[in-house]
Amino acid sequence: MEMKLVILSLLLAVVTADPMMLKEHSSMLADSTINLALNLYKTMVKDQKLSSENLLFSPVVVASSLGVMSLGAKDKTAKQVKSLLNINLRDDVLHPTFSELFNEISNETTRNTTWKIGSRLYGPSSVKFRDDFVQKSKTHYRHDHSKISFRDKRNTIQSINEWASQTTNGKLGEITNDVSGVDGAFFVNAMYFKPHWEERFHETMIDKRGFMVMRTHTVSVPMMHRTGLYNYYEDEVNKVQIVEMPLAHKYSSMVLIMPRYVESLERVEKLLTKEQLNTWFSKLQKRAVGISLPKVNIEVSHDLQKHLQELGLTEAVDKNKADFSGITGKKDLHLSNMFHATAFEWNIEGNPCETDLHAHEEMRSPKLFYADHPYIFLVRDNKTNAILLIGKLVKPKGNNHDEL
Ligand SMILES: *[C@@H]1O[C@H](CO)[C@@H](O)[C@H](O)[C@H]1NC(C)=O
Ligand SMILES: *[C@@H]1O[C@H](CO)[C@@H](O)[C@H](O)[C@H]1NC(C)=O
Ligand SMILES: *[C@@H]1O[C@H](CO)[C@@H](O)[C@H](O)[C@H]1NC(C)=O
Repeated sequence: MEMKLVILSLLLAVVTADPMMLKEHSSMLADSTINLALNLYKTMVKDQKLSSENLLFSPVVVASSLGVMSLGAKDKTAKQVKSLLNINLRDDVLHPTFSELFNEISNETTRNTTWKIGSRLYGPSSVKFRDDFVQKSKTHYRHDHSKISFRDKRNTIQSINEWASQTTNGKLGEITNDVSGVDGAFFVNAMYFKPHWEERFHETMIDKRGFMVMRTHTVSVPMMHRTGLYNYYEDEVNKVQIVEMPLAHKYSSMVLIMPRYVESLERVEKLLTKEQLNTWFSKLQKRAVGISLPKVNIEVSHDLQKHLQELGLTEAVDKNKADFSGITGKKDLHLSNMFHATAFEWNIEGNPCETDLHAHEEMRSPKLFYADHPYIFLVRDNKTNAILLIGKLVKPKGNNHDEL
């Protein structure tokens, strides 16, 4: 009898952890993050303040914070969160799928790429987090939790900034200098990303060049140069150049989308749809490309709450309507800030390139991808097609903080 039970539960364990099923679900989830990426990006750039600033976020990390919200949300609040995620999976499947996707894309060892991700939920000291919520959000989403006394606003801001800095090896300085509501939940994502190129740039191939923020405004930046075989496409109709640079072991790649001539990115941003991206990706062809990129570090911090609200998250932010009783056991919590900050290093590091490229016939007449003016970039996962990060480099220098 006991033996039978053991066998039965073993069988059950196998069924619920069916790797084939999970793979299919993870790719559904990965796919839904592409929609989230583009919808959120387009909503953000409508904000006048962001239209001429650097922008950067990780759609998968935003999705994972939404996953945590959906873990603790009920009724209409939960429905809205799920409709933003745009994925139709039962809760008992959704959360493990998230954790599988996450383990896959964020493994620094197998991927040989630096990507520190810290995610934390802050709640007012007056509420109590339910144990099952805390445990599940840790296991599935690696979110940790903290309480702060919001009575002292300055102290609150300071402790969030300190945590963000610690989480990113000191790469993120201040992620915010103000908070809006002080009586609700804060979701905070703090990240540090440094691409490790499949083929490194050479340290002798760096010099000072001008980066045209606008036609009339140039800043001086160190520029790194390299010629290699890359996936490249020039869209003559839309006057856009696209190049794809593999990151370590080709687990993911950096895709750069740049207007042919200096202009604000507005026109190209309007072109950004899933179909357009797929069209561009399908037309990429390997050929010799001479790439020049600014070698700069950027820190970008956003308060995503108002943008998510515009995308339909209206209940969660409403003190009178929000239902996060799965988090606290009562209807006593709403979302008051969602900080999402990334330190990103454009650097030369990568794997040594052993082959003598210049011996190749095809290297004789490289196309030039000279990134001396604003461009859009995204880090795309090669296994799941998820968009790991998406952003634009508009001002190579200067930290960018959303004004609250
Ligand atoms: C990363 O992947 C390796 C090899 O698959 C595994 O041993 C390791 O536990 C993973 N690390 C994390 C943090 O999941
Ligand atoms: C990537 O691999 C190189 C060479 O093996 C190693 O020196 C470096 O520390 C690795 N980086 C990461 C982030 O794993
Ligand atoms: C994706 O992975 C495959 C298999 O490893 C590889 O052949 C291909 O070049 C990779 N693509 C990119 C863009 O890195």
